[in-house]
Amino acid sequence: MKSIISSSSDSYVIEGGARLKGRVRISGSKNSSLPILFATLLTREPCSVEGVPELLDITNALSLLRHLGTESYRVSESVYLSSERLVSYEAPHEIVRKMRASILSMGPLLARFKRAVVSMPGGCSIGLRPVDQHVKLFEKAGADVSVRHGYIHLSAKSLKPVEFDFDIITVTGTENALLLLSAVEGRSILRNVAIEPEVLDLIEVLKKMGARIELSDRTLEIEGTPFLRGFHHKVIPDRIEAGTFMVASLMTDGDITLENVNLEHLASVCSKLSECGAGIEELPDGSVRVFRSSSEIYPTNVNTQEYPGFPTDMQAQFMSLLSVARGTSEITENIFENRFQHAAELTRMGANISIHGKTAVVRGVERLYGTEVFSTDLRASASLVLAGLIAEGTTVIRDIYHLDRGYERIDEKLRSLGASIQRLQGEGI
Ligand code: EPU
Repeated sequence: MKSIISSSSDSYVIEGGARLKGRVRISGSKNSSLPILFATLLTREPCSVEGVPELLDITNALSLLRHLGTESYRVSESVYLSSERLVSYEAPHEIVRKMRASILSMGPLLARFKRAVVSMPGGCSIGLRPVDQHVKLFEKAGADVSVRHGYIHLSAKSLKPVEFDFDIITVTGTENALLLLSAVEGRSILRNVAIEPEVLDLIEVLKKMGARIELSDRTLEIEGTPFLRGFHHKVIPDRIEAGTFMVASLMTDGDITLENVNLEHLASVCSKLSECGAGIEELPDGSVRVFRSSSEIYPTNVNTQEYPGFPTDMQAQFMSLLSVARGTSEITENIFENRFQHAAELTRMGANISIHGKTAVVRGVERLYGTEVFSTDLRASASLVLAGLIAEGTTVIRDIYHLDRGYERIDEKLRSLGASIQRLQGEGI
């Protein structure tokens, strides 16, 4: 299989104008795979995870696991892992700095060793992203926590079940709590938890491993056990990749059929796409056809919220879409405080966007124009690809390693639908 990983300075060159048509298979979910891979630290028994996408974030997670002593190998879409003999409880800075989700090793390491040393993730391009909720939970479960030389040190004489209310809803915070408490004997209660499909996928895995977990509204009841078993699990389809291709179909006036997609996970996205003029049809074989059902793209207002609300991970892609809508739209980002960096790049392509605090006002323009733009984070990069697909002329997107983190072979998939997109090694043109 061709390697997806190459130089951080690679670029994509896109000739805009093609109407995308055909079938595309959506990969397994990145944000499901990550916590599930870390769950394998909780057992000495072998585990296998199916549908794991080949992405830079996954490579980084597997290299952290290897550093901790987990043996793993990949056969096609499946990863086989054994954490029988772990050799370290430390997640070093070189790996955490490349992938913030490394913090998901904290819960399992604390459960397994009663100790963990994990580099502080620090700031990131989409905001400050603190880990205070993770730490509060670990303290409540009996861990002493200190921060020294940029590392969070956790240690516990013994761990106990907790009753804990999250101050804010956090996806990886909920996942870290689930990972730890599933391995702690006794009954824990967590309130105000995240209920993203990826969290529910992790719950399925932890149940297979032997934990008893029940969810009602935003409350989780966990009956943990230190004797967790190995598991086999197939991860859910990536709803953000699916949503991105849906936007591509609408923007390019195309007709794309997506395979391996769960529409239930995309309800809020589909409802906005329909408002904007998309036709969405579930076909008898389970695939989903997305096409333009109107002569133009209509404006709409988008408010990002925790699931089941509109996902922050689709906000940038909608900004591209609404840039060429017939009228004015407002996009309010409620989850992250600094997630509008794509606005400046889209503006360089001709979009008319002004930012007022956490709201972006997007006045639709007739057309976008190709130019050189820079990726700033994963979803921002996806929005630039979408813009490039409809822009007049050539768009060169620099620093596309962000896309390698979260979209499996996006260039190949887009080419198979008729797009003109090439990867250039290094700075290229
Ligand atoms: N927050 C805190 N304290 C905490 C934890 C979070 O203040 O202890 C804040 C964050 O700063 C943010 C909000 O709470 O303002 C929500 O953050 P959350 O913890 O839910 O985000 P995350 O778990 O770090 C995951 C996904 C992100 C996705 C968000 C929101 C993974 C590995 N990452 O991040 O995915 O945007 O949930 O849905 O699951 C992506 O795939 O591009 C991506 C960034």
